[in-house]
Amino acid sequence: MKIFSGTANLTLAQHIAQKLNLSLSSVEIHVFPDGEKRVRVNESVVEQDCIVVQPTAPPVDSNYMELFFLIDSLKRSGARSITAVIPYLGYQRQDHIFRDGEAVSLAVVIHMLETAGVTNIITFDLHSIKIPEFFTIPLTHLSALSLFAETIKEHGWDAPSTSVLVSPDMGGIRRIKILSELLHEMPIASIEKNRDLSTGDVRVDAIHGDLAKRAIIVDDMISSGKTIAIAVDALKEKGVEEVVVFATHAVFSDEAPDLLQKSGVLHVFVTDTIFVPKDKHFAKLKMLSISNTVAREVSKDK
Ligand code: R5P
Repeated sequence: MKIFSGTANLTLAQHIAQKLNLSLSSVEIHVFPDGEKRVRVNESVVEQDCIVVQPTAPPVDSNYMELFFLIDSLKRSGARSITAVIPYLGYQRQDHIFRDGEAVSLAVVIHMLETAGVTNIITFDLHSIKIPEFFTIPLTHLSALSLFAETIKEHGWDAPSTSVLVSPDMGGIRRIKILSELLHEMPIASIEKNRDLSTGDVRVDAIHGDLAKRAIIVDDMISSGKTIAIAVDALKEKGVEEVVVFATHAVFSDEAPDLLQKSGVLHVFVTDTIFVPKDKHFAKLKMLSISNTVAREVSKDK
């Protein structure tokens, strides 16, 4: 087995390789002055099972192009199989037509991945459970929820009388129900949120369910941080004393770290599906790693 990395999250790829007792294989990724990339695999992959690690987080298009070229170069170099570990799948929120005339961008990028020659995909906490149906090749949909459950237990936050799991929108209820099962049926609550599509601003319309002293908000991703900021405010207004947040994907716009640090949250736990540069770290941020989960998955059947 050989493992390669694009430039999107080299640290994660190194951690996965370490767990597999492998070193990252050599690949050359050259960027021309006009922005085009040239990708070349620097070692023999003939009849090898190859893994490519590349989350398609911002810069989304550039990371996707790099991934397509990595897959193509491995295929042309004779790889037996190509597993793309795409811990964060870019364009996943554009999975259907919201308004007449729109492209289904997710369907387009999936078509391009499959055409490039990928044989399997491993990804994490997709926005919608319908997304795997878009693929015609095997897709393994993993989750950070068990990692969240372990962390909640380690901190002693799993006492059902003092904590409640909160989904910051109605779409996330399935997620907190799964986590609740891992935490001895911890009670759940949900927020009814609405977003102004022109400004991106969000508002809380209602909170459903009983609250507790501590609220544990669980989300698939944090982008602008607005969803979390308004959820924390709304929960505190209702008398919740402590709020902690768990989100799989730290998409983090430029403003998100400051907004989250200034919010009333105690800690924000995210995973390394997306590389978070040092200038986006903030005191309340805690990083968890998915590298063990990926290493376990790719070691299966080997
Ligand atoms: C929405 O449906 C998602 O689950 C996240 O809550 C949302 O994408 C977070 O976005 P933001 O941080 O920009 O509010």
